[in-house]
Amino acid sequence: MSAFTRRVVFLTGAGGGLGREFARQLLAAGADLVLSSHNPQRLAAAAEYAAHKLPNKPVGRIRALLPADLSDPTSCDRLAQQVAQVAPDLDLIIHNAGIGLYGPLDAIPAEAADRLLRINLHAPIRLTAALLPIIHHRPKAQIVFISSILGRAALPNISIYSATKFGLRGFAGGLTADGYCVSTVYPFFTQTDILDSPQYGDGPARRVPGWLLDQPSAVVRASLAGIAARRRHIFPSWKARLYAVVAAVAPDILPPFSRLI
Ligand SMILES: NC(=O)c1ccc[n+]([C@@H]2O[C@H](COP(=O)([O-])OP(=O)(O)OC[C@H]3O[C@@H](n4cnc5c(N)ncnc54)[C@H](OP(=O)(O)O)[C@@H]3O)[C@@H](O)[C@H]2O)c1
Repeated sequence: MSAFTRRVVFLTGAGGGLGREFARQLLAAGADLVLSSHNPQRLAAAAEYAAHKLPNKPVGRIRALLPADLSDPTSCDRLAQQVAQVAPDLDLIIHNAGIGLYGPLDAIPAEAADRLLRINLHAPIRLTAALLPIIHHRPKAQIVFISSILGRAALPNISIYSATKFGLRGFAGGLTADGYCVSTVYPFFTQTDILDSPQYGDGPARRVPGWLLDQPSAVVRASLAGIAARRRHIFPSWKARLYAVVAAVAPDILPPFSRLI
């Protein structure tokens, strides 16, 4: 039996690189999953991947697939209602959905910035507020936020994304202070589609070198180990841990170093 056997998990961003890996590993670990993502086809494909790419027969199950656009508050509220209906026994929420965008602030269209804030920050807050009344009675209740190393220290040309990831960390700290069991995960750069996010302004094309990237399966494995141990702050690779140490002791060296590579 694993720490996730028969735990009822609501996961957002399940169709993406980290999300479908969370779905696959949670299913293998025996969880009962309610999966959400924006694009219904990607969500269905992720569910199929989770169920078919397992080394052994899946021991968990997928209870529901709930596509929703988290940039729209009405759609967030509808999603929360659907989750409450299909999973009144919910005991773990993983807020994983997120988008990126790069560029200096003055080059970023206001609507693009607002959309990023709505998906990365407002939606997790809104969903948490709506689902707390059902989750907080559960003995194993736990809420997980997928932040980023950029929620520990910012780098150039990514200020709004960083603001959302610092925001999640602050929100998680507040919920912890209120007595809830909350974990925040800080992945390093990982090989997923988010690295191809739109870039604004005239700067050189932003590219993270391949040798520097973590892989989704390892990041998710380490994240789930931290979630199972109910750790407050989870750094799912040595690069994420190293970044957090430098961010704490000498954050000013990170922007020039990032420009070099
Ligand atoms: N990869 C990295 O380097 C890295 C590093 C640190 C933190 N993170 C964080 O990890 C999380 C997962 O990202 P990822 O790397 O797996 O990126 P990804 O492959 O691009 O996945 C992003 C997920 O967010 C969903 N999403 C985007 N817009 C949405 C919307 N309007 N409504 C609902 N869902 C929406 C996508 O849904 P569809 O698939 O349906 O479009 C997708 O499932 C994000 O919060 C990201 O900030 C990633």
